[in-house]
Amino acid sequence: PKRVRTRHFQNAKREGIKITGLTSYDMLTARIFDEAGIDFLLVGDSAGNNVFGYETTLPVKVDDLIPLTRAVAGAVKRAFVVADMPFGSYENGPEEALHTAVRFMKETGAHAVKLEGGERSHKQIRRIVGAGIPVMAHIGYTPQSEHGLGGHVIQGRGEGVKQLLADARSVQEAGAFAVVLEMVPADAARQVTELLEIPTISVGAGPHTDGQLLVWTDWAGLTIGRVPKFVKQYADLAGILSQAAREWREDVESGSYPNAEHSYE
Ligand code: KIV
Ligand code: NA
Repeated sequence: PKRVRTRHFQNAKREGIKITGLTSYDMLTARIFDEAGIDFLLVGDSAGNNVFGYETTLPVKVDDLIPLTRAVAGAVKRAFVVADMPFGSYENGPEEALHTAVRFMKETGAHAVKLEGGERSHKQIRRIVGAGIPVMAHIGYTPQSEHGLGGHVIQGRGEGVKQLLADARSVQEAGAFAVVLEMVPADAARQVTELLEIPTISVGAGPHTDGQLLVWTDWAGLTIGRVPKFVKQYADLAGILSQAAREWREDVESGSYPNAEHSYE
């Protein structure tokens, strides 16, 4: 299959073809999602919650994400792989941001990086793009600033739409090739999508964007605890794995596994 490149994102917006993305943190899911035709895989710092067992994404380090990103990038034949820059790896300024982006590009085989923030990350985006590295921006609700935003709160409501539009303009101007809109009202996301030439990717931002992205563990029913309202679950992996583990345990305890069929002569 022909590899997805940034050009694919531009063309998709122009032609009205929806872009699809899922997170992935390992080679097993990367291969499956790639073969299913998902356009891009984000190795998100949501690995903090979904791999490392943290309550937020804040403790995640570049060194935590590098091996996961390498596994995902190494497994795909078609999908575009985006490396998420974790909290503390770019806020200090354009030099720090470029240093982190270069590490991901050199050490993992990812095709782009993503960082949070609109106007406040303008200089960082511009510097990374200037070095020939594609940047996916991320505005609206930005989990790395959970405490600054006062919790898991919808952004771009009421007067907040002005800041959202300013952030959207700013990241496009800085050279981002696409922008993720997280947890904003559907109408605000529609306004951003109409305003921008670069494609918008919704995660909890309704249907009027150029693409959709979900955290794979939420979408596949593997999340423990509450799943956000915007997620539709397409599988019950927790139920399937739990059932399999129980059956296997019972079979081992009762002596029905392994039998002759699963033993060597
Ligand atoms: O880390 C992540 O999974 C993300 C998406 C939810 C946008 O940043
Ligand atoms: Na993230």
